[in-house]
Amino acid sequence: MRNNGCIDAGRQVCPCVLAACGQCLACAKLRGETCESCSWQGSCIYTLYEQNGCRPADTRRERLLSIKEVRAYSEDLKVFVLEADTGFCQKAQQLGAYVFVSPADVKNWYDAPVSVLKAEPEKGLLHLGICRCGPKSSEIFKAEKSLRVRGVYNNALSAVDCLTDTAPETFIFAKGIAIAPLRNFLDGGKGYEQKLKNLRLYVDLEKVGADFFRDYFGDLPAAFVEMRSFAREGLCSLEDLDELEERKDANVIALTSPYYADMAERAAGRRIVRPVSGNLCCGEGICGACTFTDEAGNTVRRCKQLRT
Ligand code: FES
Repeated sequence: MRNNGCIDAGRQVCPCVLAACGQCLACAKLRGETCESCSWQGSCIYTLYEQNGCRPADTRRERLLSIKEVRAYSEDLKVFVLEADTGFCQKAQQLGAYVFVSPADVKNWYDAPVSVLKAEPEKGLLHLGICRCGPKSSEIFKAEKSLRVRGVYNNALSAVDCLTDTAPETFIFAKGIAIAPLRNFLDGGKGYEQKLKNLRLYVDLEKVGADFFRDYFGDLPAAFVEMRSFAREGLCSLEDLDELEERKDANVIALTSPYYADMAERAAGRRIVRPVSGNLCCGEGICGACTFTDEAGNTVRRCKQLRT
């Protein structure tokens, strides 16, 4: 099924509030245009909206999930293993999956977007890695019994459409807990395996440590893994950088801060897969925290829009 722009089109939460305010990213008719300009190939979103009494579908609900285990890997990294139902874990096992997390007893302002580190539907477990860096993560860090979790959302990574099955090689640069989405690449089935051929991984384990890497990525099917400090040594050697520049047919993924992702993108000379660069705050296209205005003057919501 072709999706022409919205990460949530055709999912359970579609149509969303953007449909209600005439800004649906997928349905031209809901934007006041005609069906002729619609290229959505799933169930008609306009019909769904009408059948729902011209109201948005129910949004993702918040759940209170019990903490089964807390793994402290360093002073600043803990992995919370939460108990969740099978369906929730299945949704969390998709590429780019993330959830909003907040402490159980703090109500406002503390929702933090957290990429799913690992989901185990068969055991009903969800692993979330929290790196302590500000007020939100510091509060979550103190949790012992439960956490509030809202989700699952799917747009943590941008330019996923740039990956091809035919790429003979894949370069991945990963730093700290930003490596988390890689696990869903590995657990997401054969479709993703195709995109990770001859994997070369450059990883900076600052703040997360080797034990974390061994526990969650010890089984990587990588032809080559290099641990390095990006700050001191750069993303990779100069020879490897030359190779990256030359291999225009390789898949390139940067699971890092925008600073290093920009560096990798410049070296690759084209769009690469990287974390969505806006501040994700509601994930629903409502709050405006992740938006920018494009050349045509359109408001682009990074949390919803594909290919940003
Ligand atoms: S995070 Fe609120 S609009 Fe995108």
